[in-house]
Amino acid sequence: MNENDSERMMAILKHLNYKTTKNLHEADMVILNTCSIRNRAEQKVYSALGRLKKLKTDKPELIIGVGGCVAQQEGERLLKRVPHLDIVFGTHNIHCLPDLMKKVKVERNRVAVTEFVDSIEEESFAYAYAEDYSGSQSQRVKAFVAAMRGCDNFCSYCIVPYVRGREMSRKSADILQEVNRLAESNIKEVTLVGQNVNSYGNKEEDISFTGLLKAVCRVNGIERVRFMTSHPKDMSEELIELFGEEDKLCRHIHLPVQSGSNIILEKMKRGYTREDYLNKACKLKRLYPEIGITSDIIVGFPGETEAQFLETMSLIQEVEFDNIFSFKYSPRPETEAAAFDDHIPEPIKEERLDILQKMQRDITLRKNQKMVGQIVDILIEGKSKTAKGASHTANNQLMGRTSCNKAVNISGDDAYVGKIVPVRIEKASVNSLLGFIVKNREERIHVCC
Ligand code: 5AD
Ligand code: SF4
Repeated sequence: MNENDSERMMAILKHLNYKTTKNLHEADMVILNTCSIRNRAEQKVYSALGRLKKLKTDKPELIIGVGGCVAQQEGERLLKRVPHLDIVFGTHNIHCLPDLMKKVKVERNRVAVTEFVDSIEEESFAYAYAEDYSGSQSQRVKAFVAAMRGCDNFCSYCIVPYVRGREMSRKSADILQEVNRLAESNIKEVTLVGQNVNSYGNKEEDISFTGLLKAVCRVNGIERVRFMTSHPKDMSEELIELFGEEDKLCRHIHLPVQSGSNIILEKMKRGYTREDYLNKACKLKRLYPEIGITSDIIVGFPGETEAQFLETMSLIQEVEFDNIFSFKYSPRPETEAAAFDDHIPEPIKEERLDILQKMQRDITLRKNQKMVGQIVDILIEGKSKTAKGASHTANNQLMGRTSCNKAVNISGDDAYVGKIVPVRIEKASVNSLLGFIVKNREERIHVCC
C-alpha cells in the first residue's frame, strides 16, 4: 500500500516538473513516506528528519515533507517538533500535494493536513498511470492498483484503522479504467492492493471482489493478476473457486493467520478460529496443489503462553507456508492490546521469533528444493538483484516470478523482459531459485511448490 502511495506521490510531482534522483544532495524536495505498523516508527521518522537538518541549513530552499501513517498519527506535532520540516500530509491527503507545495513555495508557510476524506472520489486516489511514474520505467512489467483503502476490523494490536480510516472501495469502473491504461502502457501484471482487499465492495453497491477479479482478468494485455492482503474471515468459497476458473489469476495467496492459538486469536479480535483457517488453507491446497500460501505471524502477543506459541508453530508445520513474515508484537498507540497488562518480556519474544523463523526457513527451503527439475512458467520482470549490484556479469542475469510468487533467476537477454517463459529449475535456496529457459513448453508439468 505504501509503495503504491509513493508511486502516486511521484506521479503528482512529475506533473509539477519534478523527477526522482538517487542523490540526496541534488534534491529540491525530500518526502519521507512513513509506515507506523510496528516498532517505534515515530522515533525512526524523527531521527531521519534529524539527519536532514544539515541539508536544509546548506540549502534553505529545500522542501521537506512527511507523508503516510506517521504523518497521520503525529500531524501538527511533527511540525512543532521539527522546525526544518515544511509539509505534513496524511494518508487521505496525497492529492493535496500540489496545493501544499504552493503554500510552501509561494506563501512561505509550513503546513499540515491530516483530514480523512469520506468518499473515494477520483482525486482522493490521485490516479497514477504507468506513463506517469518517474524514473526509468522503460522495462516496467508490473504495477499495483489500489482497489480499496482503510480497515473496519480493529484487530486489537493494529494501528491501521486509526491511521488509514474506514474501509472504502473504489468504483470498479475507475479501477478497470486504470488497469486498461496500464495494459496500454505494456504492463503485464497487476496486483490489486488494499488493507483488506478481499472485503472489496462489501459496503458499496458495486460488483463483488470476485466480479472485480474476473473483470480485471478480461483486460487485454494483462497476463497475470494478483491481490493482497486478504483477511481469512473474508475468504469466500467463491474466491477459493475462482483460482480454478481464471487462468490469469496467479496461484498465490497471502493470508495472514497471526497466531495458531484460539485464545490468542480471540484476544486479537481476528474473527476466525485456528480450525476455520486450517479448513480454508487445506481446501486451497487440495484444490490447487501448486498454490503458494504465505502468511504473517505475530509472536509474543500479550499473555501468549509457551503452549500457545507452540500452537502457532504446529499450525505453520501443518499448513507448510511457502514463506511467512513474522514479527515480535509491538504496542501501538491507541490500540486495545497496548493497554493489556500481561505484556511478554522482550527476550522471550526474541527467542520465540528466532525459533519460528528457523523452522520456517527449513520449510521454505524444503519446498523450494522440491521444485528442482520441474518446468514452470515465469514472468520475467527485469535484471536480477545480483546482476544490478555487479559491475561485470558474464551472463545477463534476469529475475522473474512463478505464478505461485517464487523468485527465479535465469540467464537471458533483455528481450525476455515482460515475457512469460517456461523455465527448468536447476537449484534452490531459501530466498530464490535458479533456472534456465527451455524451448519445449510441452515438457511443462504442473507442480506442487
Ligand atoms: N506488532 C507486531 N506486528 C504487527 N503487525 C500489525 N500490527 C502489529 C503490531 N502491533 C503485523 C501483522 C500484520 C502485518 C502487516 O504487520 O502481522 O499482518
Ligand atoms: Fe490491521 Fe486487522 Fe485491519 Fe489487518 S484486518 S489492517 S491487522 S486491523
